[in-house]
Amino acid sequence: MQNPEVREEHVSANAREVTAERPPSAEPGNPPAAVPESADGRVQRMMDLLHGALVMQLLAVAAEFDIAELLADGPLPVPELARRCGAHPQSLHRVLRALAGQEVFQEVEPGVFALTPLAQTLRAGVPGSVRAWIRFWGMPEKLQAINSLSYSVRTGRPAFPHVHGTDWWSHLAAHPDQAELFNDSMGILARRVHAATLESCDLTGVVRVVDIGGGHGHLLATILPRYPELRATLLDQPSVVTGAKAVLEAAGVADRVDLVGGNFFESVPPGADAYLLSMILHDWDDEQCVAVLRTIRRAMAPDARVMVVEAIVPEGNTPHDGKLRDAIMMALHPGRERTEAEFAALFAAAGLRHAATTALSSSTGLLIARI
Ligand SMILES: C[S@@+](CC[C@H](N)C(=O)[O-])C[C@H]1O[C@@H](n2cnc3c(N)ncnc32)[C@H](O)[C@@H]1O
Repeated sequence: MQNPEVREEHVSANAREVTAERPPSAEPGNPPAAVPESADGRVQRMMDLLHGALVMQLLAVAAEFDIAELLADGPLPVPELARRCGAHPQSLHRVLRALAGQEVFQEVEPGVFALTPLAQTLRAGVPGSVRAWIRFWGMPEKLQAINSLSYSVRTGRPAFPHVHGTDWWSHLAAHPDQAELFNDSMGILARRVHAATLESCDLTGVVRVVDIGGGHGHLLATILPRYPELRATLLDQPSVVTGAKAVLEAAGVADRVDLVGGNFFESVPPGADAYLLSMILHDWDDEQCVAVLRTIRRAMAPDARVMVVEAIVPEGNTPHDGKLRDAIMMALHPGRERTEAEFAALFAAAGLRHAATTALSSSTGLLIARI
């Protein structure tokens, strides 16, 4: 149950504040259809669940071969498509036939495929593109770690270092092509989901926000145009932060952002009135999270706020994206997706108080902490 005292004075009028009357478990999720009553129906339901893994692989292949881009000007016969993307025609046909069954692509006449609205999202550079996200999902090194999830369940440790001999961040630093995919895919979520989550919090009057672990700056590129007076500092690993320049320039806000390469376990820029942690804490275990939050606590002005954008996992059986994505955290990182109470406990251990939770959705929410 939530703390009925939790209130936040800067939360905008349309934000939903935490109250004892609205526990997170009451938030809408995506309830699965009722479990079939017959044994055959239940077997089919389990098959359908398993087939999700195959759909993911098929989507990753379609994105890798840029099929949607090749169909952008109109339908093409499979042999021509295969010639243009360097695929084996019959195998490509099987991929497209399977995806057409999921409303991604459509066989408009035998052997000729076209885009559907869902297939449009596989194109690069179009509004609503998730191409980078799908390519990130299909990254073999990531999938190898997820395939070793049982190691994590047995040991409580992330499978990625076990499988690859190095942690996720060091791996990305050594593989710039994969780092680019990761940062691009984070950018998709930051612009579409995390920025919308932050809209529940009015930043009017905030002079400087520090985006801690801000990646390539996609979140700042979305927020800053809304607040013409707001200045920002983007802190991320030195190898990452340089990639933010182009994103911020394209958004016309580069002159308002200082880029800082650093390590958030050691220090963060002092004296700002807002510290943003978007999709950071879920990468780390409790001890590491408290260390990051303490670093911020030391640096922040007394009346500053810490804004945490994360999946906020509801208690009980409520379906939630975070409960599924938690498997990725388990396989890749020492971290995990957390409940609101678990975040509040992290804040308390770092000398902060949980001031509000807003914008809860089936994907993310915003927690605000203060001294
Ligand atoms: C999951 S991404 C989140 C990116 C961005 N905040 C967003 O919401 O899309 C985590 C970020 O933390 C950064 N990071 C990881 N370890 C770090 C460290 N020790 N110091 C600074 N940044 C770090 C990564 O480079 C990455 O950009």
